[in-house]
Amino acid sequence: MRILKLLIAAIIQVSNLVWAQNFYDEHPHLMELTPKNFDKVIHGTNYTSVVEFYAPWCGYCQQLKPIMKKVAKNLDGIVQVASVNCDLPKNKQLCAQNRIQGFPTLMVYRPPRVDLSKPYSERVKLGNHASEVYKGERKLAPIIDFTVSRMKNYVRRLLNLNKLSEMFGKSTRPSMILFSKKEKLSPIYKSIAVDWLGSYNCFMIPNNKVAPLSSDDNLAKFYPNIYGFLQGLVEKQKNSEKSLLVVFDPHNDQYYVFQDSPLVKAQVSKFLKESLGYNPQEGPGSRRQQFVDAIKSGKAKKVEHDEL
Ligand SMILES: *[C@@H]1O[C@H](CO)[C@@H](O)[C@H](O)[C@H]1NC(C)=O
Repeated sequence: MRILKLLIAAIIQVSNLVWAQNFYDEHPHLMELTPKNFDKVIHGTNYTSVVEFYAPWCGYCQQLKPIMKKVAKNLDGIVQVASVNCDLPKNKQLCAQNRIQGFPTLMVYRPPRVDLSKPYSERVKLGNHASEVYKGERKLAPIIDFTVSRMKNYVRRLLNLNKLSEMFGKSTRPSMILFSKKEKLSPIYKSIAVDWLGSYNCFMIPNNKVAPLSSDDNLAKFYPNIYGFLQGLVEKQKNSEKSLLVVFDPHNDQYYVFQDSPLVKAQVSKFLKESLGYNPQEGPGSRRQQFVDAIKSGKAKKVEHDEL
C-alpha cells in the first residue's frame, strides 16, 4: 500500500515535470523568454518579434509547436521568434501584463520608427513597441506573411539611377544599393537595413528598372569613379537574373561589390564590416547577436543562476 502510494506520488511528480517543461529550450532559432530578458529582447531592438504565449499542457499549443519551430527557422534573422511558458510561476505576471487570456496567443510586437533625420538623442527610446494579437490561421505561411508584413522598412526604392547624385548629396552616410532580380523587396534585405540602421542608407532598384545613365548627370561631375562603374554595370545588370549588392562611399568616390549572389546575412555582414569598417547594431557580427545567441543556447539562463 505504502509502496503504491509512493509510486503514485512519483508518477505525479514526473508527469508534472513533463507538463511544465518548456517547449523550446535550446532551440537554435527560438528564444524562451522570462521576465528577466523579455524587455531587452522584445523592446530593446529595431526588429519586429512574434511571441507565442503558451502552456505546455494545452492541446492547441502542442499542435502549434512543430509549426512554430518551422516559423522560427524560416524567419531566422528576419523577425525575432520567441515564446513564454505561462505555466511557470515566474512568468505568470509577464503573461498577465501582456493581457494573455488564452493559450496559445501569438503576439506581434512592432518597433517604433526611427527617424534618422533627427539627432541621436532625440530619437525614440526603448520600451514602446506596439503589440498586436495575431488572429489569423495557425499555419506556417499565414504566420510568416503576417509577421513579415509587420517589419519596419528602411529600404527606399530607387526607380532611376539618375537620382543617385541627389541622394548622395542629401546625406553624409554611405549607401548600399541592391540591384534586385525581384520586383518585390526581400525580407532579408529589409533586415540588413535594420542591422545597419544609421550607418548606411539602403536602396533597392529592380533589375528591370536599370537603364543607362544620362550623360549630363551630376554623378559624372561629382563622382566620376562611381559614375564610370555604374555605366559599365548597367548593361550587365539590366534585366539580369542575379541580384547584386553594392556599397557606395560618395565621400571618397568609392564603391565595393558584394560578389556572392544569395544574400546570406553572415556573409553580407562580413562584407559590410570590411568595406568601411563599421559594426552592425544588430544581426550577425553585432554584440546584440551574442546576447540573443546566449538566450537561444540556454547559456544566458546559466548566467542568471550563477548570479543567484
Ligand atoms: C534603432 O536604431 C537606431 C538608429 O541607428 C538607434 O539609434 C537605436 O538605438 C536602435 N534601437 C535599438 C533598441 O537598438
